[in-house]
Amino acid sequence: MMVFNFFSRFVMVLCAVTAARLSYAAENRFEVLNHLSNLNKTPLKSIKSPDGDIIDCVHISHQAAFDHPSLKDHKIQMRPSYHPEGINYETMKVSIENEQTITQLWHSNGKCAKGTIPIRRTKKEDILRASSIKNYGKKQSVTSVAQPTSIDLDLINQSGHQHAIAYVQGEFYGAKATMNVWDPQIQQSNEFSLSQIWLLGGSFASDLNSIEAGWQVSPDLYGDNNTRFFTYWTSDAYQATGCYNLLCSGFIQINNEIALGASISPISTYQGSQYDISILVWKDPEQGNWWMQFGNGHVLGYWPASLFSYLTDSATMIQWGGEVVNSASDGQHTTTQMGSGHFPEEGFGKSSYFRNVQVVDGSNSLKTPKDIDTFTEQPNCYDVQTGKNNDWGSYIYYGGPGRNANCQ
Ligand SMILES: *[C@@H]1O[C@H](CO)[C@@H](O)[C@H](O)[C@H]1NC(C)=O
Ligand SMILES: *[C@@H]1O[C@H](CO)[C@@H](O)[C@H](O)[C@H]1NC(C)=O
Repeated sequence: MMVFNFFSRFVMVLCAVTAARLSYAAENRFEVLNHLSNLNKTPLKSIKSPDGDIIDCVHISHQAAFDHPSLKDHKIQMRPSYHPEGINYETMKVSIENEQTITQLWHSNGKCAKGTIPIRRTKKEDILRASSIKNYGKKQSVTSVAQPTSIDLDLINQSGHQHAIAYVQGEFYGAKATMNVWDPQIQQSNEFSLSQIWLLGGSFASDLNSIEAGWQVSPDLYGDNNTRFFTYWTSDAYQATGCYNLLCSGFIQINNEIALGASISPISTYQGSQYDISILVWKDPEQGNWWMQFGNGHVLGYWPASLFSYLTDSATMIQWGGEVVNSASDGQHTTTQMGSGHFPEEGFGKSSYFRNVQVVDGSNSLKTPKDIDTFTEQPNCYDVQTGKNNDWGSYIYYGGPGRNANCQ
């Protein structure tokens, strides 16, 4: 157990400047401290992960979600009333124990007890790397989502966010897929590379609702190049609402084993072992909350229905694929990789995939979707292909190297 007392050190620094008017920098530091103390709830135990993270085990009822004005009196749901895979909660433990190839790095140094949840501690430096305190933990652009049906492709293309995705349109109550995990190279710390499922509601205007989950490498967000499990949500197209992981109030976690934002291990290697993770997001037909499951039975928690407008009904588009930021800082396309950094044509063991791609339909059943379309802004940089077979059901290969002879 490790005690990291930033607060007391900061107070000492503050006392040293004493009665004098606080400088701008000190005021700014005060805001950073304030934000930190909002995010980092008092832990019952802390675990130091080999990657430098500190995982705080926080009492389940003290999580940031309950700071949200609309969730003050929220009664926490300890289990969904419905599961699209028909999982029986009494026997669920069995499937979890039989699973487990992929873990999170911090597991090697301890566990959080039942009744607590593991939260990746935010450090001062994490906030200082963001462009502002307000922007910490947020995606900053409506172009964080691929807009395959938009009429203004030029504008989207210039935004710097690039995608290679497969998508379906209709009325959906959830989505599932198994995706292999990689560690794409990032050219610049303000770029990122992620692979995820998007559940979208509303138009692509300022009211877009989105629930997202997958893995990412984001040096500015985490301070390293590790591959991390993450979630995101917004109810206003990435403007005022939403964030990654538990970095604002919204997602309610019930699980004591998986930390949002923690490093995943092991990672797939080119022409070597492939490691994949399964993610299922579904809407509880009774309470309307959107639940998330990681692996075969780690039910992590839920996004309360009250956070959303359109997603209070259903999702109207599901996307599976990758996104990178191309800042073109040296006047050329970024070398930041998507997925494995290899094109879909290379196939298994080389390219990144989503397999057993499914949607939850109006009867709350998991189904292989019909009519999967694909979209990418620049196929010579990052591309996507779909297919179907008996083992993998509906699958997608996606990704690419970024800059190359055909992508400058
Ligand atoms: C991340 O990787 C890049 C090279 O791809 C390297 O230049 C950079 O220093 C690394 N960042 C960190 C925080 O380790
Ligand atoms: C995006 O821009 C690139 C380079 O200018 C071009 O090759 C590509 O066709 C554009 N994509 C779309 C979808 O407009």
